[in-house]
Amino acid sequence: MERHGLLWGTLGDAVTEAPVLRGLAERRLVYGPFDVAVAAPRVVENFLDTAHFAYVHRGWLGETSHAEVPDHEVTHTADGRPLIERYKAWQPRATAAAAEGGWVTYRYEVLSPYCALLTKQPDDGSPGDSFTMWTSPLDAESCRVWMGQYTADTSTTEEQLREFQLTIFGQDKPVLESQRPKRLPISGGEVHSAADRLSAAYRRYLKNSGVTCGVC
Ligand SMILES: [Fe+2]
Repeated sequence: MERHGLLWGTLGDAVTEAPVLRGLAERRLVYGPFDVAVAAPRVVENFLDTAHFAYVHRGWLGETSHAEVPDHEVTHTADGRPLIERYKAWQPRATAAAAEGGWVTYRYEVLSPYCALLTKQPDDGSPGDSFTMWTSPLDAESCRVWMGQYTADTSTTEEQLREFQLTIFGQDKPVLESQRPKRLPISGGEVHSAADRLSAAYRRYLKNSGVTCGVC
């Protein structure tokens, strides 16, 4: 079936679209495909991570003067997918249209082992955005990535939106590809802090889901 600007197929039973994807803003952009030399769950985990904003996206999505990860709660959907309903971040340049820094409220939801959704709403009432991260393993240690943007911003040009998003992903990609092991460890061996609670929940979810590709 065709959905979200992509063609989807399954070798198994028919699947239904996550309800949360039905209420997104109508202006939609699709970015990619991008080939990334790291396992797909690494890319999804990075998409769910906020602690790197102040370092990897300094001057854009974060700043070292606001490097702390504020307290937040990870919960789960009825079918066991991790989510954060509310996460507050201070961002120097939260969106392509942002003229100055401000507080932004994020919402994260894991959609499936290789896909996730985030919604960001600037606290000053300016138009919000949702982003989907669609990853498809090419093999156990590399993947192909598409991102969807659903924006309430009707004035910023498509070129400006695209340039902003490609800049952000261009900052993430070398960090992603430098991670070792290339597969995401879900069997222990790494120490987590409180800032990693969504990452830890995502790893537990992968383990509980019986995922074997891209993890170790
Ligand atoms: Fe990032």
